[in-house]
Amino acid sequence: MRNKIVAGNWKMNNNATQTKALINDLKASLHNIKTNCRVVIAPTSINLSLAVQETKDSVIEVSAQNMHQASNGAYTGEISADMLLDVGINTVILGHSERRTLFDESDELLAEKVNTALEKGLEIIFCFGESLNDRKLDNHFLEVGSQVKKSLFHLPEASWKNIILAYEPVWAIGTGETASPEQAQEMHAFIRQIVEKKYNKEVAENVSILYGGSVKPSNAVEIFSKEDVDGGLIGGASLNASDFTGIITAF
Ligand code: 13P
Repeated sequence: MRNKIVAGNWKMNNNATQTKALINDLKASLHNIKTNCRVVIAPTSINLSLAVQETKDSVIEVSAQNMHQASNGAYTGEISADMLLDVGINTVILGHSERRTLFDESDELLAEKVNTALEKGLEIIFCFGESLNDRKLDNHFLEVGSQVKKSLFHLPEASWKNIILAYEPVWAIGTGETASPEQAQEMHAFIRQIVEKKYNKEVAENVSILYGGSVKPSNAVEIFSKEDVDGGLIGGASLNASDFTGIITAF
């Protein structure tokens, strides 16, 4: 049985005071709710330690937004897997389209990051998605398939228990434009199908595939109702406790 997951990618938002306040608001609004999904937040790296402390004794898990592929060394400004583990982080987001486009992270580099994260025992939320141009040219399956294959298909079957997939069409991120539930379902089913073809049915059935891109309380129910959509990776709406809770309760 695959996990249902709602994860909030806070991106470069919230200072320490705001981090603490948002976590407290979230804890309060989740207090009386019976959640049947994992709830994850990914604050900016400088506040990860604080977030771990503040979420202790709650259902909220904390993820990092990125990490470097090397174990340690002369990489000014970077953060290693061991440093994440050291402050109590067990999950890392890799491959977000903002990292791919704004920081030139290639499929090959991401494969290296994936290897390091798994070697160190981290769980990965691995993001991928097509651009608007790919979608218009009807290249979206090819592009998404290529991103997933190039960064993940070298892995042994056993590694897949630590992989969560997140389909985030670039044209739907922060634009207010969401993929329709049918478009999300179609892509998620395609991803599951290529995973099954490369590995087997068990791996394909057990991997959680999240959808990301302008998910809001008003559209979450419909998107999450689709068979192959196992949750969401939420940007903007995760910065507000009541919106994020609204999405969590969509399950
Ligand atoms: P929005 O929900 O703001 O569109 O962002 C999605 C996203 O990029 C999550 O990683």
